[in-house]
Amino acid sequence: MSRKVIIAGNWKMNKTAAEGRELVEALKKSVAGLEAAEIVVCPPFTTIGAVAEAAAGSVIGVGAQNIHWAANGAFTGEISADMLKTSGVKYVIIGHSERRQYFGETNATVNSRLKAALAAGLIPIVCVGELLEERESGKTEAVLAGQIREGFAGIDAKDAEKIVVAYEPVWAIGTGKTATPDIAQAAHAFIRQELRALFGAAADAMRIQYGGSMKASNARELVAQPDIDGGLIGGAALKAEDFIALIREALAL
Ligand code: 13P
Repeated sequence: MSRKVIIAGNWKMNKTAAEGRELVEALKKSVAGLEAAEIVVCPPFTTIGAVAEAAAGSVIGVGAQNIHWAANGAFTGEISADMLKTSGVKYVIIGHSERRQYFGETNATVNSRLKAALAAGLIPIVCVGELLEERESGKTEAVLAGQIREGFAGIDAKDAEKIVVAYEPVWAIGTGKTATPDIAQAAHAFIRQELRALFGAAADAMRIQYGGSMKASNARELVAQPDIDGGLIGGAALKAEDFIALIREALAL
């Protein structure tokens, strides 16, 4: 089954509206007419409006970095699906390890956010991945299985096809230590096997991105792996020239 490569930049807590707009203007020129992949940028909430305006009419999709499960109400600091959609957002990152680590995100909150995103027609990018000590103590598969089974509980196979999974080993994020293509492929194959157990054949249509120190110099080899369908990129997505170089390598252009 052929799956369209998806390359997303997660800007995390970086960039003002003006900086975001500038990056997208530069990126837009380089990816004009590109059909081989979906290109997404995920700015902070305050930058989404400016970025969506700059990206309008281009192939660049806009994603958010979080979503709340309620439609509205007394949830200070949170953002609803409708607020995202009406700001030009099509994708949303859910359960990033930084949210799990610093903001109390759990598999249960991931599940609630995922359901809200799907109900609103947003494309969720659900992050999973093990800590260094979990890998070193042989728990990687158990951790991934738990994140997937609990995070995806109650989701239908027909909705599952829309979900993008990002495998981000926590030890590779922002550390410069990329998983080798073999290590990443093994984890992706395991994730797909878990998805197959939940969703059957729909698992073969689901994209699984790799994330964790992906850059131009390793993107090609990673995305060439059979179960790696793109990347979720932090540091190397913050400068237009780096992100453009990475996209070209990932797509072997
Ligand atoms: P880095 O690419 O900076 O390692 O970050 C990866 C990441 O967390 C993307 O969501």
